[in-house]
Amino acid sequence: MKSYKIAVIPGDGSGPEMVREGVKVLKVAAARFAFSLDFTTFPFGGDYYLEKGEVLPYGAIETLRQFDAIFLGAIGHPEVRPGILEKGILLRMRFELDQYINLRPVKLFPGIDTPIKDKEPADIDFVVVRENTEGLYAGSGGFLRRGTPHEVAVQESINTRFGVERCLRYAFRYCRDRGKMNKLTLCGKTNVLTYAFDLWERAFHELGAEFPEVERDYAHVDAICMWMVKNPEQFDVIVTDNMFGDIITDLGAMIQGGMGIAASGNINPEGTSMFEPIGGSAPRYAGRNMINPLASICAGGMMLGHLGEKEAASALERAVMDLCATKIKSLAAGRMGYSTSEVGNLVADYLCGR
Ligand code: IPM
Ligand code: MN
Repeated sequence: MKSYKIAVIPGDGSGPEMVREGVKVLKVAAARFAFSLDFTTFPFGGDYYLEKGEVLPYGAIETLRQFDAIFLGAIGHPEVRPGILEKGILLRMRFELDQYINLRPVKLFPGIDTPIKDKEPADIDFVVVRENTEGLYAGSGGFLRRGTPHEVAVQESINTRFGVERCLRYAFRYCRDRGKMNKLTLCGKTNVLTYAFDLWERAFHELGAEFPEVERDYAHVDAICMWMVKNPEQFDVIVTDNMFGDIITDLGAMIQGGMGIAASGNINPEGTSMFEPIGGSAPRYAGRNMINPLASICAGGMMLGHLGEKEAASALERAVMDLCATKIKSLAAGRMGYSTSEVGNLVADYLCGR
């Protein structure tokens, strides 16, 4: 029997509740599809930082590297200054474990409300491949004369040919293997960011020659925002840089029904990947058994697919889709018609055919 070592980081706010339901469903999927998951929980997050005075203990990243995958809840604590936990945990994992792809499916499930009038599940089903280790997130830049009237702040976008190419290659392959429309859209801003996206655009067309079966399409990021609302059905796979990918996937999450369902994978195809809901820690709902755990459950499904348990991954997605169509009333916290743990139970029961 195949066995996978999973590091679990429940994190802050509602993260632990969401992860608890995710793990519940993963265990059932493992039993049903005959593989085993060996979970180890790590306490990292805001409370750990406030108590210990350090974000991650020495060697934590090396420990995490030993796992087959990481299952994360949410990072972000109201008593910790913004940036400390995000940079110290989330971005550190993405960077040091070289999870250079952030994969974010935007898929409207039947029975889910989208704020876009007259659009149906058939219209909203695309995937964003976001570069996850470079761009404005690389931390390049600095201050000059900070706090004075003459201060200067510089924040640079780093785009390496190596980093851009490996992201584009992943996107071309992903698009080809997905086999839906065979259309890859580069999301950029070639009319203003004439250095960064010049590199992206040249690499896109040069690499694209290796994938004649994939149609190449380009749109500026602002236009993409417009079309994601107006004609989302025109998208199949979108590839973009770190910052634009961050922004357009929040819009993506909204058109697929909200943060209650949006999941993502931080992928290192050759190493340890991390799976998490797109939404934050929602501290307002913490401990109230109200938050929707489907984003975490779907992140678990993405993790299973990534580990090679494709059958289990699609059964899990079918379970969620069917329950959204039949039982779960809304994706909003408190309006689902069920509590957090009941939603987890519904999916778990469905998976074991109860
Ligand atoms: C996301 C989040 C993170 C990001 C933050 C929390 C650092 O918004 O995963 O989209 O900007 O990537
Ligand atoms: Mn974001």
